Amino acid sequence: MSTPVAVVLAAGKGTRMKSALPKVLFPLLGTPIVLRVVDAARRAGCSHVVAVVGHEAERVEAVLAGTDVRFAVQHTRRGTGDAVAAAEPALDDWDRPVLILPGDVPRMTSETLHALLRSHAASAASVTVGTMKPPDATGYGRVVRDGDAVSAIVEHRDCTEAQLAVGECNTGLYVADGEFLFGAGGALARLETNNDQGELYLTDIVAIANLDGRTVDGVLIDDPAEVEGVNDRSQLAAMEGEARRAAALRWMRAGVSMDDPDGVRIEDGVELGMDVTLGAEVELRGSCRIDGGAVIARGCVLTDVVVGSGAHVGPYVVAERTEIAAGARVRPFTVASGINEKRPHLTTDEDRVHIGVNAKVGPFSHLRQASHLEDAVHVGNFVELKKTTMHPGSKANHLAYLGDAEVGSKSNVGAGVITCNYDGFAKHKTTIGENAFIGTDSHLVAPVTIGDGAYVATATTVTKNVPADALAIGRNRQENKAGRAAKLKELLRRRAEAAKRG
Ligand code: UD1
Ligand code: MG
Repeated sequence: MSTPVAVVLAAGKGTRMKSALPKVLFPLLGTPIVLRVVDAARRAGCSHVVAVVGHEAERVEAVLAGTDVRFAVQHTRRGTGDAVAAAEPALDDWDRPVLILPGDVPRMTSETLHALLRSHAASAASVTVGTMKPPDATGYGRVVRDGDAVSAIVEHRDCTEAQLAVGECNTGLYVADGEFLFGAGGALARLETNNDQGELYLTDIVAIANLDGRTVDGVLIDDPAEVEGVNDRSQLAAMEGEARRAAALRWMRAGVSMDDPDGVRIEDGVELGMDVTLGAEVELRGSCRIDGGAVIARGCVLTDVVVGSGAHVGPYVVAERTEIAAGARVRPFTVASGINEKRPHLTTDEDRVHIGVNAKVGPFSHLRQASHLEDAVHVGNFVELKKTTMHPGSKANHLAYLGDAEVGSKSNVGAGVITCNYDGFAKHKTTIGENAFIGTDSHLVAPVTIGDGAYVATATTVTKNVPADALAIGRNRQENKAGRAAKLKELLRRRAEAAKRG
């Protein structure tokens, strides 16, 4: 057969979603519905896909921009037949089979589409309709057969009593010959609006084909759930639950352990190795890759995160665009984000966060844009890093802010150390050499360099470079005054009493 093309109908609003977002852009397990449809058409072997857009066309086009979809615009919604006709200018030729798909049916598989295309190619039919037997046929078009062939599709609202009793319904999926559909004498040009809604119904191509003495096949799709469209949010939420459970089941069968599979949410682009363990309520989004033996504890939300084998990510870690190397331990409540904070849309690989081999992070650490923790680095509680590299074996164990900084290997950054990297107008760099010791509560006023082996005494405000192996100390000397504590207390007590008396 000649290679088919696909037309995806995505011009509708989705009134029952009651949303500013077009229905086809709602996500199912993280992927917009229309992207799922386009992907299924692509994988079924269609050489190109035309998306018919209308309502909020720019937004729909933006979501599909990364694909090689062609766009056609339906300016006024005059019905499903009119929508397919709008695709005509985007097609190179009309002598191919055209796979027509509704844009709001997220669970159709490429296997089903491929079966429809195969059946069409193997038969003499000009149109092949995908049909179903749903548990409740209300609202669907009924498939009227004459022997094996389909003679008409009648919309629910236009049905006679006898037609309403028909259990076989139209899925809205079709394969039709391009030469039959398009052109001045084509079926789409002959549609009329003589129905209850006054629309140009695509379904009427079935009756037109019969009038012309052409054959229309009906192919039953076994599982009606697969071709169920999304109409409202409760339906989408039910589909989401099913998709989540199906993904969890698939991964458990592939060797992943889960404490509580019902709450685990794994998006389609995620890859998991053997013997990964996922705690309850874990969410893995985007293109996460978790290597064998890694543990992701309860409540973690990871987006585009790579976790090396045997790494341990403690409970409630939230991370995006972060690499966690083999053997690293990320303790609870750590937040890591490799996003360009000022210009998220310009985020590059440079902005990613790296947690090196056997590094230890957290609890309560905050790793921001372009933080690099090399092998065996320790970053402890209430430590914030931004655009900072910590070389192997260096430590910042408690309460510190390191921004635009470099910490040499085996150096120790004490509690309360702050890099003063911002002067209100520009950011400046702090460089700390190897084996340096930065005493607690020191302020490093950037730009500044601390040499290898240097020692910054506690509570020093460093305003000039410290040479290698030097001791920097800059604080007021302490005086002790014998017996003065009792006197001072007595003075303060009397003052307070006097103030109370007024
Ligand atoms: C359609 C079928 C019905 C079938 C049902 C399956 C027709 C007349 N009826 O009914 O037989 O049982 O699907 O779900 O085709 N769209 C446009 N432009 C338009 C109109 C619709 O792009 O002018 C798009 C919608 O966004 C949607 C798809 O076409 O993705 C189907 O339209 P919808 O209004 O949902 O048709 P149904 O009434 O469900
Ligand atoms: Mg519909």
